[in-house]
Amino acid sequence: MLVVDCTKDYCVKDISLAPEGWKKIDWVSRFMPVLRAIREDFERRKPFKGVKIAATLHLEMKTAFLLLTLKAAGAEVSAAASNPLSTQDDVVAALAEAGIKVYAIRGETREEYYENMHRALDIGPNIIIDDGADMVSVVHRERQELIDEIWGASEETTTGVIRLRAMERDGVLRFPVIAVNDAYTKYLFDNRYGTGQSTWDGIIRTTNLLIAGKNVVVVGYGWCGRGIAMRARGLGATVIVVEVDPIRALEARMDGFLVMPMREAAKIGDIFITATGNINCIRREHFEVMKDGVILANAGHFDVEISKPDLEALAVEISQPRPNITEYRLADGRRLYLLAEGRLVNLAAADGHPAEIMDMSFALQAKAAEYIKENHERLEPKVYTLPREIDEMVARIKLRAMGIEIEELTEEQKRYLESWEHGT
Ligand code: NAI
Repeated sequence: MLVVDCTKDYCVKDISLAPEGWKKIDWVSRFMPVLRAIREDFERRKPFKGVKIAATLHLEMKTAFLLLTLKAAGAEVSAAASNPLSTQDDVVAALAEAGIKVYAIRGETREEYYENMHRALDIGPNIIIDDGADMVSVVHRERQELIDEIWGASEETTTGVIRLRAMERDGVLRFPVIAVNDAYTKYLFDNRYGTGQSTWDGIIRTTNLLIAGKNVVVVGYGWCGRGIAMRARGLGATVIVVEVDPIRALEARMDGFLVMPMREAAKIGDIFITATGNINCIRREHFEVMKDGVILANAGHFDVEISKPDLEALAVEISQPRPNITEYRLADGRRLYLLAEGRLVNLAAADGHPAEIMDMSFALQAKAAEYIKENHERLEPKVYTLPREIDEMVARIKLRAMGIEIEELTEEQKRYLESWEHGT
């Protein structure tokens, strides 16, 4: 029976799971030097004293460390999940124990997901930290009474930024948003190296299959797709890239991958991974020509990239051969295996990005929250990127933690780079 512990201050699966959650948080925090440095500074200065922060994030151990950092900075913090399948119940229990108003249970239904988001919003936040823009969207559609108190929000992922830019374009965005995703120290590392490694972690853990010798089809050659393709090659696969953007398709070819449309790739792929932020990239016409036993996984933000309705319509039988694998048996006997219900496989079937990666992304989130607090009065209801100095600060702390020193410009070089008089 599902145990659910709900009080006014939290809604978790089972509060007694907290000790396991603390162990996980303690482990990752050892590998997050940038966020640790920010936390020490925040603990001293308490920049968020009296500030209310509501977050919608994948509630696992690294995000937990971010939320604890904000609390240590003096904030009242509430949180809900950004995906019903990425929640780790033990970590959520630890957060509840630490006094964070957290409302999330792994596997919650869509209705419960939104109910919990509303509960997190009930604190009346000044700052929102979002991942996928669901919370900002709910505020604009259903909780407009909260808008006057909201100074701004920060957004973690590509899909969220796309939605927020659409809101800005349509003139409906009511407060400023910082696109943390668009910082260099986010997308260059998190989307590429983080998704690149953790997507494979999810697929390998779930299937226990060999990657070497397989045809891996990567759909979308953006920051995530590049990372996934790069690591697939390292594991010994033949990599096929499916892209709609001619420049990115060309880049994939020059990077040494095969490039073809989905209708061709569908016939020869063994493992398919979507990372586009787009809908129905793999659909009925593709399933119809796939080989028996193919693996389908998604790394994009929403579970819409591989068409589940089409799979359901084609299947004569649907079963669950292993945890996190759904088998769709077609009328001709072929079996197609969908991992983690088509949700981001690295979070729903593994632990998400490595700690060292989230260290940078969450350091940016913590600094973005401080930036909103300090600058909200002069910011307009637009989507902003973080100032370059914050990006560079994160990179410098990271390099220092890795024991790496870098070259510095001499005064002469600075003058040279700033002048226009010098030429041939
Ligand atoms: P991006 O915008 O850099 O790349 C997406 C690529 O997909 C583009 O090159 C686009 O041309 C291509 N594309 C769009 N529709 C397509 C189609 N029908 N067929 C083939 N290619 C298509 O975006 P990025 O940063 O790589 O993010 C991709 C998705 O992954 C987003 O939903 C983002 O939110 C999510 N994401 C997931 C993470 C995770 O932990 N799993 C981490 C970071 C981002």
